[in-house]
Amino acid sequence: MNNIIVSPSILAADFADFKESVSQIDDSGASWIHMDVMDGVFVPNITFGSQLVSSIRARTKSVLDVHLMISQPGRFIKDFADAGADIITFHYEAETHTNKYLNEIRSFGKKPGISIVPSTPCSVLEEILPLIDLVLIMTVNPGFGGQNLIPECLEKVEKLAKMREKANLSFRISVDGGINRETAKKAINSGADTLVIGSAFFSEPDKKGLIHQLQF
Ligand code: DX5
Ligand code: ZN
Repeated sequence: MNNIIVSPSILAADFADFKESVSQIDDSGASWIHMDVMDGVFVPNITFGSQLVSSIRARTKSVLDVHLMISQPGRFIKDFADAGADIITFHYEAETHTNKYLNEIRSFGKKPGISIVPSTPCSVLEEILPLIDLVLIMTVNPGFGGQNLIPECLEKVEKLAKMREKANLSFRISVDGGINRETAKKAINSGADTLVIGSAFFSEPDKKGLIHQLQF
């Protein structure tokens, strides 16, 4: 069983003041920062690219947990690795050559992750699971923060946890979308060990309390 890790998402931060947002995350006791890269094609929203990863890398020692919501992500793996990402997660639905790019991420000394949207079953990942350090189960349709968790997605978390046990693997299971104090407990009970939290983190006055409650 992996320990619980919270990965606050800067999608919910003030985009004019990432310096302050990174300090808030670091001061909360969280050790990961989730960065949502969106291209306006794979998802109907545009955020930022590898330049921001590089700027944030210069300001923190936290694990940079980069979530690529872009079409044909293989084109940009090297850019994000060079920018200082620690974990690079791309979408199964967005890339034909998943095997090739998961291996490429590892060849750069980074941890490879794969993500699936709510309508994609986790069974499609079976053959590539040995190549993966983190599976990110989207618990909302990706593109925007502040949405409600789709409860059926937690059934996939349970299935994936069983697949992990059967295959004797140890990849992390991350949930992303609509995670707050309440849904976090349900996700953990379903088998998640990594919690991406955007709006519920930045709107929380007691950020330390939130991280402490969930990580310990
Ligand atoms: C959504 C992103 C999430 C987002 C979650 O497409 O992948 O990481 O930041 O935001 P909340 O926690 O507000 O649902
Ligand atoms: Zn995300």
